[in-house]
Amino acid sequence: TAYADATSYNNFYEFGTSKSDPAGAAGSLKPRPWTVAVEGEVKKPKVFDLDELLGIAPMEERSYRLRCVEGWSMVIPWVGWSLAELIRRVEPTGNAKYVEFVTLADRAQMPGLRSGVLDWPYVEGLRLDEAMHPLTLLAFGLYGEVLPNQNGAPLRLVVPWKYGFKSAKSIVKIRFVEREPRTAWVKAASQEYGFYSNVNPNVDHPRWSQATERRIGEDGLFQKKRPTLMFNGYGPQVGQLYAGMDLKKYF
Ligand code: MTE
Repeated sequence: TAYADATSYNNFYEFGTSKSDPAGAAGSLKPRPWTVAVEGEVKKPKVFDLDELLGIAPMEERSYRLRCVEGWSMVIPWVGWSLAELIRRVEPTGNAKYVEFVTLADRAQMPGLRSGVLDWPYVEGLRLDEAMHPLTLLAFGLYGEVLPNQNGAPLRLVVPWKYGFKSAKSIVKIRFVEREPRTAWVKAASQEYGFYSNVNPNVDHPRWSQATERRIGEDGLFQKKRPTLMFNGYGPQVGQLYAGMDLKKYF
C-alpha cells in the first residue's frame, strides 16, 4: 500500500470519525514524553518510559495485511518487535488469562473525545496466548520511519489475523487480567463486534458481508474486490489457537 494512502486513510476516532480526520487533526498528539504502565497479574509490574521500550528487543520490519472490519485492507511494512518480548519480561502470574490494552484519552490532545461514539478510553483485549503469539507485533514505526501520529504514535498493536480495530493505537497501559476485558467496541455494539474479531469470511457482520475486501489503492472502476481469507490468510500460523472453538459463537 502506498505510504500516502496508509497515512491519510485512517481510523482513529479520538481524532474524528471520517477517514481523512486523523491525518488532519493528529498533529496535536504529543508522542513524547510517553510512558506505558504494565500492571495487573504480573510478578514485575513496571512503568516503562518510551526510550526504554524502544530498546527492549531489536526492531524488525514486517509487512502485514491489515483487514478493517469495514471491508478494506492495506499491506504495511511495520517496524517493531513481538509483544511476547515485553510479556516475558514482566512475568505474568498463573491468574493472567487476558491482556487489556488501554489507549490515551486526553481531551487536550484529542478533539474526537468530545463525541460520544465510543466510551473512552479506547480499550482492546487479547487472550494471553494470542498476545504471546509471535505474529502479534508492538509497532513503533512504519515504512522505516517513526509512526506518524495518525497511525497510533508512539506505539500501537498490530494483530494481523484480526479485524483492524483490535490493533489499538497510542497505548498507555497494558493490564494482565483474569477475566475477558470489556472492549470499547463490545461495549458500543456487542451484536456487531465480538471480543475475538478474527477475520472470518464465513461470519458476516450483521449489516454487511465479510466475504470480500477492497485493497486500498486498487480502486479502478473495473477493479475486482479480493476474496477475504480465513484469519486474513494467517491461518497456518494461528489456526491452532482456536482449535475446537465455535467461531460463529466466538466471533
Ligand atoms: N485505536 C484507537 N485508539 N482508536 C481507534 O479509533 N481504530 C482501529 C485501530 N486502532 C482505532 C484504533 C481501527 S477500526 C483500525 S482499522 C486501525 O486502527 C487502523 O489503523 P491504521 O489507520 O494505521 O490503518
